[in-house]
Amino acid sequence: MRQHGLGERPLAQLREVLGDQGLLVDEDSRVAYGSDETEDLIYPPAAVARPRTTEQVAAVVRVCAEHQIPITPIGGRTGLSGGALSVFGGVGLALDRMNVIELVDERNLQVVVQPGVITQVLQEAVAAKGLYYPPDPSSRGSCTIGGNIAENAGGPRAVKYGVTRDFVLNLEVVLPNGDVIWTGANTLKNSTGYDLTRLLVGSEGTLGVITKAVLRLVPHPKETRLMLVPFASAEKACEAVSATFRAGVTPSAMEFIERDAIAWTLKHTDDLPLQITTAPGAYLMIEVDGDHADAIMRDCETILGVMEAHEAGDVLFAETTAEKDALWKMRRSVPVSVKAHSVYKEEDTVVPRYELPRLLKGVKEIGARCGFSSVCYGHAGDGNLHVNIIKGDLSDAFWELELPKAIREIFQLTVSLGGTLSGEHGIGLVQRPYMDIAFNAAQLDVMRAIKQAIDPQGIMNPGKVLP
Ligand code: LAC
Ligand code: ZN
Repeated sequence: MRQHGLGERPLAQLREVLGDQGLLVDEDSRVAYGSDETEDLIYPPAAVARPRTTEQVAAVVRVCAEHQIPITPIGGRTGLSGGALSVFGGVGLALDRMNVIELVDERNLQVVVQPGVITQVLQEAVAAKGLYYPPDPSSRGSCTIGGNIAENAGGPRAVKYGVTRDFVLNLEVVLPNGDVIWTGANTLKNSTGYDLTRLLVGSEGTLGVITKAVLRLVPHPKETRLMLVPFASAEKACEAVSATFRAGVTPSAMEFIERDAIAWTLKHTDDLPLQITTAPGAYLMIEVDGDHADAIMRDCETILGVMEAHEAGDVLFAETTAEKDALWKMRRSVPVSVKAHSVYKEEDTVVPRYELPRLLKGVKEIGARCGFSSVCYGHAGDGNLHVNIIKGDLSDAFWELELPKAIREIFQLTVSLGGTLSGEHGIGLVQRPYMDIAFNAAQLDVMRAIKQAIDPQGIMNPGKVLP
């Protein structure tokens, strides 16, 4: 596909649909909507459409379909795989003005939301009614539900509660021809026809634009215990992860953080009400939640036994709400702190949980052999390791030409351990060249056939996911 500007006629049609406020064509806006959190990439759309209603989204899509203009759906622009980048120009379809929580259905433990609702806003709105929306990306203060659904975001609580996909019951979607459909029903069970809801979740805006979502909620857990466990050996920390589950405990979070990630984050964190001693290797941050203090205590005792057996150091418990909030704030700051430290590339590897030590060891071996350093952290309980490759003083030539070969090796290792390329960040633009490692031609053909059937003109987020 070529680069798309917008001719006079489509511009006039879009202005007619959206009004002047809803269509931005100035340079500053185009640049602002042309990047997310992926590396330092900027791909400005030719125009930014900011609809307020499903009808406006459908009308915008029909204009684009008529003129074969690419459409890139844009959420909170916090993505880490470049899914929201308008790589072919065209229309950047920003959903940020569709940000209403339409209904909190307390009788059914469901919520109906527009795609531009900020995740933390939703979490807090339902918490005020004693309900819990567990998907919790680090960017929850600025990412949106629409983007979370498009990328199938995860976060720390996925280990106990599941990822975004597990909370989506039904979606209103504008298809690439402008038709509006619901994908399923607002029911907890549904064996009726193909599961279009699950197909759309994680499709990264390539099959349609999500304009409304019905999400499942759970009762808010009454209590949590949160601990930070230091390890001299990062591999031992990883080994303790699967051992915890085998001991019969499912924590509500089990995060792995390598030493440097904590050290760099502490540099950017003021007034931490806790004294964190530097561990030589890595940390596990473990949360247990529930409604009964004695059951939580028993789980913590089991966990402490497992940690001790894996040569952990002194465990730090966050006792007060302020201390717990501070530890979580520190954890959520890890990605921005790594980014502040150096130019980096992030790979979102995921393996079956027991293979985590082998993944970490293998990543470090590949780094040592190929000449890069990495700092790793992530959702260890899910076997999901964010591998951050640090540019430091590596040459641009190495970064552009040699590093992709090393990244291939990391993904080959991941797949050889039974894992895959992305646990929660998506494929988007930047992981697309590696899809052949996870899928053979027959598998990719099935995906291409689906794309072709739903978007025969290829206008919906072109250049993403499929190689
Ligand atoms: C996190 C994001 C980067 O785990 O996924 O903080
Ligand atoms: Zn993550």
